[in-house]
Order: sequence, then C-alpha cells, then structure tokens
Amino acid sequence: MSIKLYRSALLRFSEDGSPLYDSDGLLAVAADAQGQERVIAAGSWQALQAPYAALPDVEIIHLPGKLIAPGFVDMHIHYPQTDVIGAPAEGLLPWLENYTFPHESRFHDRAYADSVAEFFLDELLRNGVTTSLTFATSHPTSVDAIMAASQARGMRMMAGKVLQDRHSPDGVRDDTEQGLIDTENLIQRWHGVDRLGYAITPRFAPTSTPEQLQGAGELAAKYSDVWIHSHVSENLDEIRWVRELYPEARSYLDVYQGFGLMRERAVYAHCIWLDETDRALLRATQTAAAISPTSNLFLSSGYFDYLKADAAGFMYGLASDVGGGMSFSPFRTMQAAYMVGREHHSKEGLSLKPAHLWWQHTAGAATALGLDGVIGNLQPGCEADFVVINPACTPLLARKTQQAASLDELLFAMIVLGDDRLIEQTIVSQAK
Ligand code: GUN
Ligand code: ZN
Repeated sequence: MSIKLYRSALLRFSEDGSPLYDSDGLLAVAADAQGQERVIAAGSWQALQAPYAALPDVEIIHLPGKLIAPGFVDMHIHYPQTDVIGAPAEGLLPWLENYTFPHESRFHDRAYADSVAEFFLDELLRNGVTTSLTFATSHPTSVDAIMAASQARGMRMMAGKVLQDRHSPDGVRDDTEQGLIDTENLIQRWHGVDRLGYAITPRFAPTSTPEQLQGAGELAAKYSDVWIHSHVSENLDEIRWVRELYPEARSYLDVYQGFGLMRERAVYAHCIWLDETDRALLRATQTAAAISPTSNLFLSSGYFDYLKADAAGFMYGLASDVGGGMSFSPFRTMQAAYMVGREHHSKEGLSLKPAHLWWQHTAGAATALGLDGVIGNLQPGCEADFVVINPACTPLLARKTQQAASLDELLFAMIVLGDDRLIEQTIVSQAK
C-alpha cells in the first residue's frame, strides 16, 4: 500500500468541535479498499512517524512553515451566480428580478453552463473549498454541467435543479410537473455517483406553487438520503410576501415543514428572522441553517442570531451564498461572521472564537450536511480533502502570524487579514 506522509503544522477538530493542533504534525493518507484516499493517521510527527519509517512505499512530503487544515465546506452557494457577484440592487427581490433571473436564464445552454461550472470549480479550489452544496438553475442541463465537471475533478459536491414554477420570468420558470420529473431523473442520474450528491432545490416558497412543494416533499420522502436545499427568512419583504401566499402557515419556515421539507440533510440558507418555535423545529427535525454573512450584509437582509441558535441547539455552518455573497474566500466569510456576531450581539458582548469560526466552515459545516467523519476534518477515516496554507503569504500576514502566541491568535490573524493568497495548495482525495 502506498502511503503519503505529510509533515507540517496540522489543524483538526475533535468531536465536540474543539480544535486539535500540532505545530509539527503528521498526516498520513492512503487509498482504502475502494481506492479512495483517506486519512489513516493524524497527530504529532514525533509520536506517530516511527512505524512508517520501516515501511517500503512511503512518500514523505515535508512542508516546513506551512499549515495543513481540512478543506473548507461551503454550505450554500449558487454556481450560476458566479458572474452576479457585486450586482447593485436595493435588496433581495429587486436583485433577483433585475440581475439574477436574467442571468440564470442563460443556463439552458449546456456549453455556457459547462464554462461557468469549470470557472466556478477552479475558483472554489483556488480558495481552498473542496465541497459545496450549490444551487444550479431551473434547467436540468445546469445540473449535468456542474456534476460532470465535479466528477472529472473527483470532488465531493452536492447540487440540484432549481424548482420555481411561479412568480418567475420566462426563461427560468419551470413547469410544475416537469420540474418534478426532471428532479427525479437527475436524482437517478447523479445521486451517489462517485462523490456526487443530489439536492432537491425549491428556490424559496414564493416561487413554487403548493403543488410543486408538495411534490418536492414526496420526492424527499422517497429518496431519504438526498439533500433538500432552499432559502428561508432572509428578508422582511420576502417574509411579507410568503405570509400573503401561504396565510395558513404559522411562519415562513412552517411552509416547508407543512410539505415535508424539513428533515436530516435539509439545509436552509439565512434563517435570520426566525422565532423560537422555528428554532425548536430546526432542532427537532435535524434541519440545518447555512449562515451567509457577506450576503446578508451585501443585500442588507439582517443578522443571524448566534446566541439564539446555540440556545435552541440546531445545526449550522458557514456559506458564501455567491452571488448574493461577496466572496468565494472562506476567510472573508469567517471575517464577516465575526463582525456580524459582534454587531448583532454587542449588548451581550459576544465575540466568536477563531477556532469556532473555522469549525463552522469545515467540520461544523460537514456535520450540518450529514457528512460528519467524511469531509471537513482530518481525523482517521475522513476523505483526504485538505489545504496547505502559507501563513506568511503577505508581508503583513508573515509578520502577524509569526508573533502569534496561541492557536487563537494564529487563526484570527488569518481570518482578519486573509484571502485566497493564503491557500498554497488544495488537495482533493483521489480515487483509483
Ligand atoms: N432567495 C431566493 N433566491 C435567492 C437567491 O438566488 N439568492 C439569495 N440570497 N436569496 C434567494
Ligand atoms: Zn442563496
């Protein structure tokens, strides 16, 4: 068995989310019986290296001064909105109508979808993101494009065709029945193929009829290990609209619950304007929230409430929400999450800990996606998706990280000052 032995500083997480750090670490990677590369050992170089010295087929990769950390996991992103980043609009609904829908209408064209998918995956990897849960568009071709491109790179990716059969312009609106048929065909074509997963993806309650949401819920029951991916409680105008469209629902989130769209592996972006009953429902159904602070700031949507989320005990993780979000970089997202936490909880004096922010974008996000122990961490058994970080990538970062007196100080310097320049290499687990 051929083994790759990486020697550098190493960051991992324990089961309770606390960080594990070795300044002189060892990460051993080898293919499993199916040929997928996984972590077989992780920890201190001094403690673990001896048995490997005796083995014949060991390649040692020594990376002095570098930090190996889990590949980042982006819990909510829109690959077709790669070119929508930075579109100026007065809030969510005008942004959708004036920029996003017209742009997404181009994805019926497979060649165009392929070209954006390739650029998008390049950009994810350049930023150290090895897995994302992404919206496609309402066109089935847009799913084929992102799945085929991810498969060719061996990446673990989840994506789905958007369901939106009303209140959407020609070119992106789908047909109630056909959208569901296409969804089922795409599940059968892609879910569980190599490292790919399918997500049933109603855009949000206002753009699906009750019949379409009903059908989506039926598919979610029939295919219990596919993901469910949508938006909820992002913007106050949106919430007023949902109240008009679904007057019988107790809340916006309750619309989804009523159609069987809350369960393990259901992920809702934003979750800003929730009440306590909603939060309890997230926890009870093991539904996860994807927190997108750069998007929430860009679209002036509001702030995710960390204290209420922790009190309720539901799962969450970080997400870019590109193109509402402003950056592909997990460092920019973690920085924004920190500032949102400070601003929103200034009375309580909350200051999110650097390692907790990092966890939210790696092991925490993986747990929220139901992929705990699979990705987002570097414990034995995890698929070997990781980043090699150069903490000295800019003069200021070199100076600042060199003075760090604790792990928190090291991670925080990178969260505050960092971007794609920190990512020297992104390594995706290879399959034979
Ligand atoms: N709500 C419905 N569609 C979208 C979208 O594309 N982006 C965001 N941020 N919110 C949405
Ligand atoms: Zn979104």
